[in-house]
Amino acid sequence: MRVNGSVFIVDNDAKTYALVSAFLTYQGYNLVKSSSNGEIVDTIKKNNVDILIADLDHLQAVSPGFLERSVFINPLLVVIGYAGMPSDVPVAVPHDNIFTLPKPLNLDELESLVMRAREYQAMHACDKSEGLSNQHQLLSATMVGASQAMRGLFDMITKVAGSNATVLIQGESGTGKELAARAIHQLSDRVKKNFVPVNCAAIPDDLLESELFGHVKGSFTGAYSNRAGRFEMADKGTLFLDEIGDMKANLQVKLLRVLQNREFEPVGASKSQKVDVRIVAATNKNLEELVVSRDFREDLYYRLSVIPVTIPPLRERRDDIPLLIQAFLTRFNSDKRNSVKGFSRDTLEILCNYEWPGNVRELENLVERLVILKRSGFITPDDLPEKYLSGRLPVQIPVQVPAKVQSSAHAVPVVNELPEGGICLNSAVEEFENRLILQALARSGGNKKEAALLLNLKRTTLIEKLKKKNLAYGEE
Ligand SMILES: Nc1ncnc2c1ncn2[C@@H]1O[C@H](COP(=O)(O)OP(=O)(O)OP(=O)(O)O)[C@@H](O)[C@H]1O
Ligand SMILES: [Mg+2]
Repeated sequence: MRVNGSVFIVDNDAKTYALVSAFLTYQGYNLVKSSSNGEIVDTIKKNNVDILIADLDHLQAVSPGFLERSVFINPLLVVIGYAGMPSDVPVAVPHDNIFTLPKPLNLDELESLVMRAREYQAMHACDKSEGLSNQHQLLSATMVGASQAMRGLFDMITKVAGSNATVLIQGESGTGKELAARAIHQLSDRVKKNFVPVNCAAIPDDLLESELFGHVKGSFTGAYSNRAGRFEMADKGTLFLDEIGDMKANLQVKLLRVLQNREFEPVGASKSQKVDVRIVAATNKNLEELVVSRDFREDLYYRLSVIPVTIPPLRERRDDIPLLIQAFLTRFNSDKRNSVKGFSRDTLEILCNYEWPGNVRELENLVERLVILKRSGFITPDDLPEKYLSGRLPVQIPVQVPAKVQSSAHAVPVVNELPEGGICLNSAVEEFENRLILQALARSGGNKKEAALLLNLKRTTLIEKLKKKNLAYGEE
């Protein structure tokens, strides 16, 4: 079984202890036993404990002040604590390494917090890892992502930001092209000057030239005064030419001239004007194809794509989905003063397996809408709009939701049908069985007789299975 990390459980209630330990063993965690002297700090240090799960009342009683000191024991230690009422949480919980949930314990909630704990650790481990520049940290504060593709993108952005080279960003709609363009500007020496976006598709063709280059008074009907264009506004800064694939041929020639000579002529002017602008262009069209079909000038394409950057669609970097959801949830909870706690495991599974034709923008909008409508508690599949649910079969083999900390090799796709590369039937069936058993135990409050009834098994068969599966569920 995969080992995810080391967990130490502090709870004086035998039933809850048994339930939590069985659940975490099933999840692949290594359960740490208390050190011989019974000292919690000692146990954590000796066993490199990653996650401490505790009944907060009990924890405070046996180790007063522990929560306040926890982050100093191990900076990556996360405490997941439960208390009778949120107001029973014995400290003001000022640390972001402490997550709390109410009693009675709900395994879905616990699992969601364990996932958050792993994300917290991965994020902070990254912060501390050698060679991670300040620039990288600045980037990850605005652009969320830990997939290989996004890490590659962060590297590329940090490398190119310092140069003046023209960057062409390609990617489907909503993948984050504008965000990447802004990040390049933010990390460049030009940061104190303007970042000027121009959407070439949104401005009517006959106005785009004057919008870009400005005009002199009287140059056309309605030109009542001299007006600076976006190139001039972006002097010493960055000009972001969005939807460049929609630019008409006559303007493509003029743009090429600016790129070659670093000078332009405002509409109606007789003299050209020098300009020092860094150009970042973006498109969701395939420019190479437009070049082949002669809709885009080849010479301009080469001028623009000195540094080509492609942002892959979200469905090709599914590892980022839980991280983006968490980031948007935190943002919208805070913006809207709501307190949605998280997404249930099955909801996350659905979202991780959805195709996301609108990419990150669609995900962002969905989370915003769910936070507004739900306000508090956990988002469940019932809260999702219909389109996210279609294509789901009534029974799915449960899977591990890909989290930042797991390599993509660990991410098992939801098995609605036999994957192309085949599947290990035994492990899939065993996972399914384990989960149902644990759910039955959770529902029966740990009572094996009742759990066996729920599963239509004999009590002895259930106990046998628990032993065989090494799901150490309490003492017999
Ligand atoms: N990696 C990310 N982390 C956080 N937010 C993101 C990320 N990528 C995209 N977003 C958010 O998704 C939304 C869409 O991003 P953006 O406008 O940059 O996409 P785009 O590729 O320019 O889309 P379009 O082609 O439709 O213009 C924005 O609100 C942006 O903040
Ligand atoms: Mg855009």
